[in-house]
Amino acid sequence: MWDGGQEALWESLSKARSFDASIDLSRIDFDHMMARYVPPRGYSRERLFKAMADREPAVLAGYPSPVRPPLDVLGLCDAARSIVKRMAESSDESTYSVTMRADGRRVQLRPREIAELWHKQTEVFGISDLYIRNTFMEELIDPSGLSNFNLLLKASHGARSQEMFSFVISAEGMVTDSHSDDPDSSNFCLEGRKLWIFWDTYAGLAAGLQDAERLLLTTIPRFDIKAWLSMPSARWCIVGPNDTLFLPANFTHKVITLENYIGVGGFYVSLPNCLSLIADWIYRGPLWSKLDRKSSKAMLIGDISLAVQKTILRLRDCSPAVGQALGYGFLDLSAQNVIRRLPRSQMAMLWSDPRFRNIAENIAAPWPLSNDLPLAFQLGNSPSRRS
Ligand SMILES: [Fe+2]
Repeated sequence: MWDGGQEALWESLSKARSFDASIDLSRIDFDHMMARYVPPRGYSRERLFKAMADREPAVLAGYPSPVRPPLDVLGLCDAARSIVKRMAESSDESTYSVTMRADGRRVQLRPREIAELWHKQTEVFGISDLYIRNTFMEELIDPSGLSNFNLLLKASHGARSQEMFSFVISAEGMVTDSHSDDPDSSNFCLEGRKLWIFWDTYAGLAAGLQDAERLLLTTIPRFDIKAWLSMPSARWCIVGPNDTLFLPANFTHKVITLENYIGVGGFYVSLPNCLSLIADWIYRGPLWSKLDRKSSKAMLIGDISLAVQKTILRLRDCSPAVGQALGYGFLDLSAQNVIRRLPRSQMAMLWSDPRFRNIAENIAAPWPLSNDLPLAFQLGNSPSRRS
């Protein structure tokens, strides 16, 4: 016998199926699926940092709203609509890429044209790169709340640009097919609801679940709900107003908009997730290098690694409160998780790479390799190491 919460989730999945036939579930599948559901839990900074260190997706209710005064006194939904109204009045001539669901076409539109499309409600569309920083949107939305532990902002210009702090708009029925992103992400919902389905990228590829960013595809990435359900890393959630989804970068995701959605999203590197992200980027290669034919982003991992290393060294001389705000206390847990997760061959490769080792050596953890082993190369401007 299902309770009211499960019935509501089943209805949400049934609605998702009307937009995407691959969400093909029986009631028996749903019973299995409930074991993979990520429920919303009350936000605390510690809970967020623990999720980052453990690489577990989390839905956190009650994250401080990023809406600035005077709109912050409105309810989230009214604030979202006021922001879209400001977009409609904007004279900003910059254009942003909008994806149309009907034919997958991308069109470039100005903010006032996006607002017009939103109000007309005649097209199913989505936009995820309406940048907030250094645009009129920054007067309305404060990036600091969602990004004050983001070490990307302390790195080079190129690394900072990976934050991609954005206003997200998505019409009911929009489907974003299976893909992954470079850093971990946060998604704060102001209005609407989305279904997120996610799984470990490489376990998924082995099980036949495709990822548009990790494969060269000419068709929609293949998704099979039974194959997904068979994977230990399979997770799903519904994100609604006042929820923030934290999603680790190693999770490929498929997203279906259940009700017209407005939110704020961004990517980040912080102390609790820095080791796992840098390990993956070195070992798998970051997505930002995929089409970087001029190698203009070749140094980004090193830039980010140096910013992390400097932060760790600086925090040793700061008050505990400063370290606590940045997740300094979660470094040990993140290191233990990396040691437990990575095979020795991969750890040996990472241990010879200063972009990983310069951080790892500054964290007290049972590293399986000696500090006496030489590095394969040196990073420029690297602060002296301390163990
Ligand atoms: Fe994404």
